[in-house]
Amino acid sequence: MSRKPIIAGNWKMNNTKSEAKALVEGILEGIKPLDKSKMPDVILAPTYTALWQVQDLIKDEPSIALGAQNVNPNKKGAYTGEISIDMLNDFSVKYIIIGHSERRQLFHESDEFINEKARAIIASNLIPIICCGETLEQREAGITDVHLASQITKAYNGISKDDALKTVVAYEPIWAIGTGKTCDAQEANRTIGEIRKVLTKLYDEDAASKIRILYGGSVKPSTIVEQMAQEEIDGGLIGGASLEAQSFVELIKGAM
Ligand code: PGA
Repeated sequence: MSRKPIIAGNWKMNNTKSEAKALVEGILEGIKPLDKSKMPDVILAPTYTALWQVQDLIKDEPSIALGAQNVNPNKKGAYTGEISIDMLNDFSVKYIIIGHSERRQLFHESDEFINEKARAIIASNLIPIICCGETLEQREAGITDVHLASQITKAYNGISKDDALKTVVAYEPIWAIGTGKTCDAQEANRTIGEIRKVLTKLYDEDAASKIRILYGGSVKPSTIVEQMAQEEIDGGLIGGASLEAQSFVELIKGAM
């Protein structure tokens, strides 16, 4: 089964307007010599305030798509500080990251809320990148697989196979995010294989073999080649190393 790789940059709360411009220009320059037919799907997920500018900068570069870091599943109304799918649609956003551990932990987002977001995103013909991952305590207690099965099962609640095929999953062990401590590639591969087993149970083998599953957590140019060589890993969701043009371009090359 050949799944097209994805390299997604999650900028988190970084980059002012001028920094965003410099970063995107650097990435565009860096990918110029690359064979576009071999490039992974590249996603940039800036902050909302940089969406307009990033959209404009990448408009002539079909290999790069725009992503958002979050969304509110409600259509509109009294949700101070939130942003709707229609608003993201205004900027031609294609992918929306949901269930990131920072949203779950710092902003107390529940599995049910994440499922609501996934359904709303799919209903609007956009693509959710559904994040899951275990804490260090859960890993040490040997409950990683059970925890991930629960997160995935709840995230896909009420979603049909046809719709599930329109989603992307990101496995991000929380202890590896922003810590410089990458999950061993073979172990990430094994864990993602377990996530595919959950998807097989929820849907079937066909769906599980088609849904793209990324690894995230301290992905760096020095780790990407080994990660991409793993059968189950379809790309990376990258925080820190996506903030610098040269390293992000190296990551794209590592997925080619
Ligand atoms: P990191 O972040 O690459 O800085 O570890 C990954 C993420 O949180 O998506």
